[in-house]
Amino acid sequence: MDIGALNAIAVKMVTPGQGILAADESTGTIKKRFDSINTESTETSRRDWREMLFRTDKAMQDHVSGVILYDETIRQNAADGTSLVDIMRAQDAIPGIKVDAGTTPLAGRPGETITQGLDGLRERLAEYYELGARFAKWRAVIDISAPDQTTYRTPSRGAIKANNQSLARYAALCQEANIVPIVEPEVLMGGYHTIDRCHEVTEIVLNSLFTELYEQGVKLEGIILKPNMVVPGKKCPKQASVEEVATRTIKVLKDTVPSSVPGIAFLSGGQDNEDATAHLDMINKIGNFTWNITYSYGRALQQSALFAWKGKKENYDAAQKAFYHRARMNGLASTGEWDASLEKG
Ligand code: 13P
Repeated sequence: MDIGALNAIAVKMVTPGQGILAADESTGTIKKRFDSINTESTETSRRDWREMLFRTDKAMQDHVSGVILYDETIRQNAADGTSLVDIMRAQDAIPGIKVDAGTTPLAGRPGETITQGLDGLRERLAEYYELGARFAKWRAVIDISAPDQTTYRTPSRGAIKANNQSLARYAALCQEANIVPIVEPEVLMGGYHTIDRCHEVTEIVLNSLFTELYEQGVKLEGIILKPNMVVPGKKCPKQASVEEVATRTIKVLKDTVPSSVPGIAFLSGGQDNEDATAHLDMINKIGNFTWNITYSYGRALQQSALFAWKGKKENYDAAQKAFYHRARMNGLASTGEWDASLEKG
């Protein structure tokens, strides 16, 4: 492991003004996204969509430091035969790879899941490094609002510990392979829970995560943390102001994340596009922390472009325009320079 090289990559991933494009939807997830625009999900349509994003020059060069790819995409060529990896490298964006194998029900913990993918991971990481990946992602899912809270309240300690230990073992394997691990423990925002409950659970999860990372020998200078923001459940009757989300999110991070971590890149998790931008912006406006804080958004970067594209060649320019706009807005938010008035026009 070359910790200096890992740190240099991690620092580049959170360059001020830039963030990460999460384009690593699994085949099942991207089908759902394409269903919403009545477009068939095929190897070619998935390639066309992602190639269009990666060729949006100004969005990529100015605001995307790295792209998280799915296994299919890291091996795929553009329509003209250039590999998609070479296209993003030409944009100075670092290729990354999702290496978890999704979630499965956790035995003995009804309603909770464990993320799979550790078996054979050492060999897969070696291959992904050869294919150009310099960082990876593993997503653990913590559900506050799993059904039937009468049996017991989720998340359970067991589910938190099992998921964080897997994250730590994944991170150690990544560093051994000279790949920067994005460590993503996502506390889901679906459900009726309050912002207090999200705050409490996020704090417990992050505390436990850093204990597990320590126990597995993970070097914090060579990771990127990808957390949720502290927000109320989507169905909670009492929603929160931008200031409250930002203040509580900073508080939880300061209480749990060591300052040797170089960067934090949030997931959007189903927040509306503009909310995800406004929250990130307010966090950076308040500032006064040691990490670079930016985005690693999937939906909040792609959704408006997806609806502009609708699977049609003739909408290519409109889709690139929409993608550039969101990338630029989030790029500004990563330095606290966004303003709602910039969204118009
Ligand atoms: P969202 O921003 O759509 O939550 O996706 C980010 C991600 O990579 C989830 O694992």
